[in-house]
Amino acid sequence: MWEVPESSNEMIGRVQDAAQKLESGVGEGAHYRGWLDLPTNHDRGEYHRIKEVAKSVREDADIVIIIGIGGSYLGTRAIKDALTKPLSQTGMGEPEVIYAGHHLSTSYLQSLRAYCKNKSVYINVISKSGTTLEPALAFRILRKDLEEVYGEQEASRRIIATTDVKKGALKKLAQQKGYETFIVPNDIGGRYSVLTAVGLLPLAIAGVDIDALMDGAKDAQDVYGTQYEENACYQYVAARNNLYERGKKIEILMSYEPKLQYINEWWKQLFGESEGKDGKGLYPSSMIFTTDLHSLGQYIQEGERSMFETGIIFNDSADELIIPEDQDDYDGLNDLAGKSVQEVCVAAREGTRAAHSEGGVPQIFLEISQLDAYHIGHLIYFFEKSCAVSGYVLGINPFNQPGVEAYKKEMYELLGR
Ligand code: PA5
Repeated sequence: MWEVPESSNEMIGRVQDAAQKLESGVGEGAHYRGWLDLPTNHDRGEYHRIKEVAKSVREDADIVIIIGIGGSYLGTRAIKDALTKPLSQTGMGEPEVIYAGHHLSTSYLQSLRAYCKNKSVYINVISKSGTTLEPALAFRILRKDLEEVYGEQEASRRIIATTDVKKGALKKLAQQKGYETFIVPNDIGGRYSVLTAVGLLPLAIAGVDIDALMDGAKDAQDVYGTQYEENACYQYVAARNNLYERGKKIEILMSYEPKLQYINEWWKQLFGESEGKDGKGLYPSSMIFTTDLHSLGQYIQEGERSMFETGIIFNDSADELIIPEDQDDYDGLNDLAGKSVQEVCVAAREGTRAAHSEGGVPQIFLEISQLDAYHIGHLIYFFEKSCAVSGYVLGINPFNQPGVEAYKKEMYELLGR
């Protein structure tokens, strides 16, 4: 269920044109639209192999290291975190999923190497280009450790590479060493790739129901192919672009659930890398409430009026937690005794909604009925399609990222590469 501010007819027309451009493949970067029908059009043989490999890794691994950066890891982390109980313990037949290659921290890598000692370790290294420095460096170091512990042959059995079908250093290495390999399709860019082997394999290893995830995405593919009037995806695009043109340059994706922190991070990459070019684009920001109400809440309420919020709302399905009565009532909370923590959270949500409205912060709400694999798959597709259509409304190519190369060029020069 969506609640979006009304958009102008002019904007609705632009969204309809942009959607048409995307569907008919005449927009810029159209050869990167493989994700658009991915839920109904993917390699079934590879999908089956993903499940088989995940099953055997789950049976044998204590730790699975997912090496990748940006679109090659954020989607996995987002979905896994959203669907996993907070503070859940591993070691109960579940492999522990650890990420690497998403920064250049020596201290992190050294701790990870020490942590892996005397554990059964597998690696899934993911890089579409096969040449990105951060994952390539982490992989070289962790691969050497694995080879030292297990010998080259067994180490190679424990490494799975997800990369381009033909090109790149990782592809070459995988061929030489005989790694199990999965493909990042040519027509899908990193940030739109979570429903390919890039995300599906590590998620299946982590125990996520990838069938339900794909079912949710498939239903979204149907639902968001309809006309504007019944299409929440297009309505969201119109609302955010209308707000942008009224000077609301910052979009805050927010929820009241810390498990969604990495959905926020994935969304920021998707929209930031897709739209932020040619001197244009909404700045994607994110918050977890009520945590951030105690840090940035002041700014949202009374700072520069340049932002709007998009909230992901759902009912927490965890066992009800009732606030207990306390005889002494030193903390003065007895007026809340008997209420559930969820009731307090809903009051915080409704109170914040009213306060932010009064403070001049427009709000869009997405209500999902449950936080499960099906609804997360639906949400992922919803945002991917919104992002692509929105990019065309803005008049940019939503599938390239030329600006990302700038820091790499400078860094390589300093490294004498
Ligand atoms: O969305 C993108 O294209 C990027 O974020 C890439 O996913 C990221 O830079 C990693 O690239 P690669 O998978 O080639 O290592």
